[in-house]
Amino acid sequence: MNLRNLVVLGLFAPAAFAQSITTTKHNFQLQTNNARVATGQAEDGLCVFCHTPHKGQSSLILWNHRLSASNHTWADVAAAGGKTTGGTAYPTNLRTWTGSTSKCLSCHDGTVSVGSLYWSDATANPNVAMTGSDVNAGGQLSNPTYLIAGGAGNDLSGNHPVGVPYPYNRVASTYNAITTGPDVKLSEWIAQPVGVKVFGAGGGGAPMAGAAGIECASCHDPHGTPNRYFLRVPTQQSQLCLSCHQK
Ligand code: HEC
Ligand code: HEC
Ligand code: HEC
Ligand code: HEC
Repeated sequence: MNLRNLVVLGLFAPAAFAQSITTTKHNFQLQTNNARVATGQAEDGLCVFCHTPHKGQSSLILWNHRLSASNHTWADVAAAGGKTTGGTAYPTNLRTWTGSTSKCLSCHDGTVSVGSLYWSDATANPNVAMTGSDVNAGGQLSNPTYLIAGGAGNDLSGNHPVGVPYPYNRVASTYNAITTGPDVKLSEWIAQPVGVKVFGAGGGGAPMAGAAGIECASCHDPHGTPNRYFLRVPTQQSQLCLSCHQK
């Protein structure tokens, strides 16, 4: 068994290979970040902006960041029935959907302060003051580069579908109550994608079979990766896109 297999099995993980959130833009305690805590609250650590051991929004991933009130629909296709070219309906329920997409958009639509939490330091609904050139006075993300939903924090027009089924093992399926469209060419899908993460119905872990779907966290790992922009697979030679699409 070679070194690589040992690493894959997790039996041998040299520190140099480990990826850590601590040096990324998601460490809001990092005083060099353009979105960071205004006052030192080092005791709370950096996970608290997204997770809590107690009194979170949900048990699933112990979510601790205040969710957006927006529904995040694809407004530009709504008039035409709100479907992809393959005939799959875009979701209209992301706000209440358990998948991780609504979690990402709780900061990346710019409507909720990065420091607006459910629970921290034995306090309900704390609002940790944020500062830096990429947040406004209310602590909301304001640099348009990082705002994925636009307009009133609502519209996802022009963004890759999320909260929709992935044709896992080239089988049409239902995920987030949405069914793979009739014109999706099943032969064009990688049967079992590697590197990216497909989710089981309900937004949990990757499925071994059956209903599967994609979320923001299919392409990104918010805890950091060796690639730019938290991408799970590099974009060189279109590796990321070709992880799912056979083109
Ligand atoms: C900016 C938000 C954010 C921060 C900060 C963050 N997480 Fe997460 N975390 C998420 C999201 C979103 C998911 C769901 C992603 C998924 O299912 O792949 C998640 C999932 C997880 C999971 C379960 C799935 C997995 O990927 O293993 C664990 C465990 C976890 N986080 C631990 C931590 C710890 C520990 C820290 C602090 C060192 C931390 N996270 C910091 C957003 C964050
Ligand atoms: C608690 C708020 C929060 C949550 C939740 C959150 N982000 Fe972020 N994210 C930020 C902020 C703030 C930045 C940094 C923007 C800046 O530098 O000004 C950022 C930066 C990023 C970047 C750019 C990284 C880089 O190196 O340029 C990506 C990509 C990203 N986030 C994706 C995600 C995804 C995907 C999720 C969900 C899985 C997520 N974020 C959840 C607040 C959040
Ligand atoms: C199909 C894969 C995929 C999905 C799904 C996806 N992203 Fe990305 N994302 C990318 C790629 C690729 C980039 C780098 C784009 C570039 O080079 O300009 C990126 C870049 C980003 C950035 C950095 C700024 C920018 O716009 O380039 C943020 C923030 C981000 N994504 C957040 C999100 C959020 C939030 C979601 C869910 C609503 C999401 N992503 C879903 C592939 C994806
Ligand atoms: C994790 C799997 C995954 C990855 C990675 C991925 N896609 Fe997709 N892509 C999907 C799914 C699922 C759909 C929706 C298909 C359907 O049901 O209509 C889709 C749809 C599309 C569509 C069609 C949108 C429409 O309205 O018809 C395009 C174009 C596309 N993806 C391009 C890309 C590009 C470019 C990349 C790389 C940046 C990429 N995809 C990466 C899974 C993925």
